[in-house]
Amino acid sequence: MSVRRLAPDHVQPASFAFDAANENWADQQIAKYPQGRQASAVIPLLWKAQEQHGWVPRAAIEAVARKLGMAPMRVMEVATFYTMFNLQPVGEYFVQLCGTTPCALRGAEALKKVCLDVIGPQSTVSADGKLSWLEVECLGACCNAPMAQINVDYYEDLTPENFTALLEDLRHGRPVKTGSQTGRSGSEPLGGGETLKDPALYDGTVIGAGDWQARVTEQRKAAAEAAAAKAAAEAEAKKAEAAKTDVNKSDMTKADATAAAATKPATETAAPGRPKPSEPGQPTSAANDTPAANGKVDAKSAAESAKPAEAPADKPVK
Ligand code: FES
Repeated sequence: MSVRRLAPDHVQPASFAFDAANENWADQQIAKYPQGRQASAVIPLLWKAQEQHGWVPRAAIEAVARKLGMAPMRVMEVATFYTMFNLQPVGEYFVQLCGTTPCALRGAEALKKVCLDVIGPQSTVSADGKLSWLEVECLGACCNAPMAQINVDYYEDLTPENFTALLEDLRHGRPVKTGSQTGRSGSEPLGGGETLKDPALYDGTVIGAGDWQARVTEQRKAAAEAAAAKAAAEAEAKKAEAAKTDVNKSDMTKADATAAAATKPATETAAPGRPKPSEPGQPTSAANDTPAANGKVDAKSAAESAKPAEAPADKPVK
């Protein structure tokens, strides 16, 4: 793991400023964030400063802080935290060699020795300015370990021999191949894929036996018929349920009507016997108004029923 410190003063530039194109790009990045949240653009701006200068000097950190209205220390914290920001000068080809467990188990230690021999000490630039290197943590290509990132490309399945040749090719400007250096395709096992190799897997001829297309068609047809039958049965059941509900409602209506008819005579049969205001000649005896008049209740009930009719007679007439 590398120590994150600013480069010594003698390599620090006196000043830093974005060029016109990068200044414009930085303004566009800042405009993406709400007012008062311009600090959110700190990482894109530091990255652009590194692209322009090759590494991130103190002057660039201060320039970014001024542009974003941040304290320089806040920008320094970000620049020193993320290893993607180079705080020291780097070579034209900056090698980040993975030293984490999978790569270490697959020979990363031998690759470190290559770096020391071909480039020199870690975090120093080769005399010709072409190469520098740094050991870093896992870069996410463990399946093709050991590996290194050089500028923005990955180089995998490295051995001391092919890594040495790769560094020399870069140094002398010869074309190089990115990715696996042993011809592995993607992340396949060494020696090539072991499964799904039969071409017949891709033309459909090995999916089941016989005429599979006819069988699939038949299965789809049967499934569609079963779905239609199920839908019809459900519709029929709903219809029967609705009919049953209607019958119940009708029965209830009839029962209500019958009950009403049965109770009506009991209350209304005495009505014809009541004296009408327009018929003063009618008997005033309450006995005529009671059910007893119809012979349906006993004498006691008739007497009680007659009481209200007698009460007014006791009241003094004013
Ligand atoms: S351990 Fe080296 S890439 Fe993951």
